[in-house]
Amino acid sequence: MTSTTVEGASGQRPLGVAVLGHGTVGAEVVNIIREDALDLQERIGAPLELRGVAVRDASSDRGIPAELLTTDAEALVRRDDVDLVVELIGGIELPRTLVRAALDAGKSVVTANKALLAAYTGELAEAAESHNADLYFEAAVAGAIPVIRPLTQSLAGDRVDRVMGIVNGTTNYILSAMDESGADYETTLAEAGRLGYAEADPTADVEGFDAAAKAAILASIAFHTRVTASDVYREGMSSITAADLTSARALNCTIKLLAICERIPGREGRDRVSARVYPALVPREHPLATVAGAFNAVVVEAQAAGRLMFYGQAPGERPPHPP
Ligand code: HSE
Repeated sequence: MTSTTVEGASGQRPLGVAVLGHGTVGAEVVNIIREDALDLQERIGAPLELRGVAVRDASSDRGIPAELLTTDAEALVRRDDVDLVVELIGGIELPRTLVRAALDAGKSVVTANKALLAAYTGELAEAAESHNADLYFEAAVAGAIPVIRPLTQSLAGDRVDRVMGIVNGTTNYILSAMDESGADYETTLAEAGRLGYAEADPTADVEGFDAAAKAAILASIAFHTRVTASDVYREGMSSITAADLTSARALNCTIKLLAICERIPGREGRDRVSARVYPALVPREHPLATVAGAFNAVVVEAQAAGRLMFYGQAPGERPPHPP
């Protein structure tokens, strides 16, 4: 195994990493940092050094040196030799406290904790900005599709008016399969479960909770404000019938579960934000109508950049579906 401390080869100051949580993802991140250290160093330009892993129970054997384990996550994130904190503990209030502590201390943070971000993206983004720290959460919305960075960085000098898209792969798989086959919702949901496209409990997806959380994150960063999942108007798609899709077809439309985040111009520059998730009629010629299967697509409308579209596979281990 490669050593965790690959010092000095590049002459660069090492980047100290703290990992919060050692579940499935945390363990994998720790493995990558320890085993791919040289490769990471080449790509990053500085050695990555694992400073510690915060766990609830430091007594169990986790296959990593005992001196790296700690139950004091707050002390770990504040350590002077920690530059980057990877939050993988899940939940909301504890990670909020730890991510705030890290950002307030000027550390960069990586998290894909959608529940945390759906409640606190605005607050955490403000903390990051005021302490000149970086907050990365690209994986929280639309899987590997790069949509967060364009909103937070590429379009930082532009004015975004609308972010709209299909941000839930499960429901897009079901709706497009219903559209193609004419089958009803229950039959298509059961088939989606058998094929691995839908969870055993699909409530968060089909009732729009997952999309509402993502809409809150997108609205918060697009409009530099604080939007939480509970601020988002939400309607699921479980009541859509085969007959609804037939009617949509007659209008040359299809039905998609859309997340729509818009800036509503107000008086004296006091704009408002509208964020909503609901099954919408989408004209067949609209780019979002062609997004089929477990795919996501996000359209961003900005004043200078115009209309941009980001498209790709939704997160999750699913069989591939032809676009
Ligand atoms: N269940 C989500 C989806 C993936 O179907 O898109 C996790 O965000």
